[in-house]
Amino acid sequence: TIKGVLFDLDGVITDTSVYHEQAWHELADQLQIDWQPAFAEQLKGVSREASLAVLLNATGHPNDYSAEQKAQFATEKNDRYLALLQQLSPAAIAPGMTAFLTALKAQNYRIGLASASKNAPFVLERLGLSDYFQARVDPATLRKGKPDPEIFSRCVALLGLQPAECLGIEDAQAGIQAINASGAVSVGIGAKDVLAAAQIRFETTAELTLANIRQQLK
Ligand code: BG6
Ligand code: MG
Repeated sequence: TIKGVLFDLDGVITDTSVYHEQAWHELADQLQIDWQPAFAEQLKGVSREASLAVLLNATGHPNDYSAEQKAQFATEKNDRYLALLQQLSPAAIAPGMTAFLTALKAQNYRIGLASASKNAPFVLERLGLSDYFQARVDPATLRKGKPDPEIFSRCVALLGLQPAECLGIEDAQAGIQAINASGAVSVGIGAKDVLAAAQIRFETTAELTLANIRQQLK
């Protein structure tokens, strides 16, 4: 039986993934790195540093940049991202998400946050959703990012559950891989061609209800 739900944040609880993408795109333009359409999916779920590495690797000469320059680029990306978040309010909560969280809480499911974002506490606060989460993994403490299962394994442990007792909800390929490797049940939000590895999948969060999940779990 499922007793807990592990949530990704960006692209699941709210559509901040488009702001991450825009901020990286702006940085790529600034560095005169050609923006490739494939970056959008590749950067989802991936840490700030690993995302920067994807962009710099695309130049073919990533070693031209010093550690100081890379730290500076990461800071610039985050400044751009935070500027895009200025208007963030509860209006930006994904469709059906408040109802889903409320239903989970009412039925005593344990709720955890497994976001790679160091901005996650700020985003949850701005959305007014902080109080739903009994456990949050601090991404600064992770040895490996998604697709490694560490973040989901840690979240399961913080909730005091076993992996098979948990659903993990993700919009990123790396995230679905991480959930599957952790032993939790993966729930993908998004297109089928992108999230083929998800055990359960919904096109949008509007379909994310306990009844719909139970139906697909059979
Ligand atoms: C993930 C996003 O949730 O967090 C990624 O999907 C992002 O796009 C990552 O790079 C790290 O976020 P932050 O806020 O710590 O730079
Ligand atoms: Mg995501």
